[in-house]
Amino acid sequence: MPLIDDLKMEIDDDEYSRRAFLSALGLGAVAVAGLGTAITAVRYMWPEVLFEQETRYSVGAPGDIPEGMLVAMPEQKVYVFHGAEGFFAMTAVCTHLGCLTRYEKEEGRVFCPCHGSRFSTQGEVVGGPAPRPLPRLQLTLESGVLIVDASKTVEPDSVLKV
Ligand code: FES
Repeated sequence: MPLIDDLKMEIDDDEYSRRAFLSALGLGAVAVAGLGTAITAVRYMWPEVLFEQETRYSVGAPGDIPEGMLVAMPEQKVYVFHGAEGFFAMTAVCTHLGCLTRYEKEEGRVFCPCHGSRFSTQGEVVGGPAPRPLPRLQLTLESGVLIVDASKTVEPDSVLKV
């Protein structure tokens, strides 16, 4: 058992290196805890913003779309058709189980590859299990450009006269 006099003894190299190691370990733990606290504080200050996907898409000038033409925009999941009555937009998402349809120009139809539903270029069901026509979407003319809003459906007979 060490006596009080032992404390006045010289510290040998082994004892000194152990103390240095424990001091460094303690400082390291404090540094890690401080860094974690700082990161958490900065993260707390950073705004949590939800970036919603764009739903309004530019189609182009009406004059660039001749009557009878269907404009397919697969990335936006939207079709725009220029009929005798005017322009209208409709979704490219199948009304059966939600697959993405594709426009088959040679066949003059919209086709769903999942279960074979077929739609006319006006979105009417012409075959397959789809229960409803392709819903029409809001289409407006802004500064001479057709703009479709994929987040807003409109009446089935809605047409934009230009
Ligand atoms: S999802 Fe289109 S036919 Fe089934």
